[in-house]
Amino acid sequence: MAEKFSRRQFASLAGLSVAALAAGPLRAQDSGGLSRGAASFPSGFIWGTATSAYQIEGAVKEDGRGPSIWDVFSHTPGKIADRSNADRANDHYHRYKEDVGLIRDLGARAYRFSIAWPRVFPEGKGKPNPKGLDFYNRLLDELLASGIEPFATLYHWDLPQALQDRVGGWQSVETSKAFADYAGYVAERLSDRVKSFFTVNEAGRFVNFGYGWGIDAPGLKLAPALLNQVRHNVALGHGLAVQAIRAKARPGTRVGLAENIAACLPAIDTPENIAATEIATRELNAGLLNVILTGQYTEHFLAYAGKDAPKYTADELRIIGSPIDFVGLNIYAPQYYIVASDKVPGFTVLPFPSSFPRMNSDWLRIGPETAYWVPRIAAKIWNTGTIYISENGASADDKVSPDGHIYDLDRIMFLRNYLVQLQRAITDGAPVRGYFLWSLMDNFEWIYGFGKRFGVYRVDFDTLVRTPKLSVAFYRNVIARNAVEA
Ligand code: BG6
Repeated sequence: MAEKFSRRQFASLAGLSVAALAAGPLRAQDSGGLSRGAASFPSGFIWGTATSAYQIEGAVKEDGRGPSIWDVFSHTPGKIADRSNADRANDHYHRYKEDVGLIRDLGARAYRFSIAWPRVFPEGKGKPNPKGLDFYNRLLDELLASGIEPFATLYHWDLPQALQDRVGGWQSVETSKAFADYAGYVAERLSDRVKSFFTVNEAGRFVNFGYGWGIDAPGLKLAPALLNQVRHNVALGHGLAVQAIRAKARPGTRVGLAENIAACLPAIDTPENIAATEIATRELNAGLLNVILTGQYTEHFLAYAGKDAPKYTADELRIIGSPIDFVGLNIYAPQYYIVASDKVPGFTVLPFPSSFPRMNSDWLRIGPETAYWVPRIAAKIWNTGTIYISENGASADDKVSPDGHIYDLDRIMFLRNYLVQLQRAITDGAPVRGYFLWSLMDNFEWIYGFGKRFGVYRVDFDTLVRTPKLSVAFYRNVIARNAVEA
């Protein structure tokens, strides 16, 4: 029918006038009820928002914080697009109370933030700096007083520079061990209030960008064998941290990780392509998520790496595969559209047409069905148990209109469509229990500096004034209704 009749014809055939169609959603809102198109989330679904330490805190030299690899990198000429650094960033270190107020106004129940390792151990290991940890004590107390559940990430890329200088950072297993010590130290002191810890954020990104291509800190371009070893050391650091948290934290503390899973989707959802997408998800995540969730490198991964494969012991694989309580998936762009293939390993990745739509970042292609397929397939192939969407969000140009408002309709379009697909995944059985919107507010977007805006609150980086964008109203409405309009 849709092919034979235009939308206008269909409306009149169905006995509706076009005017009535247009008035429909408004009427539904006026009556305070949900329209028939609303996609509801399960009760108890956790609605949150996310940030990370280096991107918002500033105060990089305060209260004994040591330098991180991102301090050094962002101060190296030519590394950051707008030549900025995060010395001040959002000045969240001093404005955290105001920022907790923003979360409260959003109606979010949960907040995913990260702890800066160099605040807690300025040298990476050895002597702790209690003043550094105190900041997080203050933040946690403020969050809890506001009824917001804290989810803490232990490593969002700000490695203490001392570890990079001394042992080559993640090139050495010494860093994996130091990470576990730091994780245990923090968990022991904060698990009275933090019930869920993420170990590392997006290992897939910081390993490849930071140690492979040299475009993130620490800016190294290692040969494949060394890069594979770095990746292995990070996976090992995660596993050791899981064990340290279990040993030191209060009973009931939950631990997982947040990963930018290589997002594979069937190009067209035939059973063959879906099966091929499952293989692709396993293989294209073989070096991190798959080994972490299965305790094994795949045969194909090892064969492909050949002489460059990481060196490891069976005991290390056991540590890497330590059971976790949840998996955080950062969902942004669709990365690999897959079709089935007769050739080993059984899938082909299709090229993207140049006309594929994007948000305001070259890499951020728009593919709402990413939020459907990725959690569904992850849950199926790894039997993950609880999944959180630990990040999802979009960059937009976010100009301030002459009337002073920021009408980020494109971000709202992006969020709405991803959330509809996420709800569909949950309806079809994906065990997604929460969602963290990236990001609470505009911040230092790594190599883009302040040039890319992902926040639902706009930050004026001269005055540091925070202003809600229209997406604040959108997300607040989603949270209040526990539903999104399809
Ligand atoms: C994720 C990171 O990759 O995406 C965030 O976990 C980051 O820290 C966000 O801010 C956006 O990425 P980018 O590269 O555009 O700053």
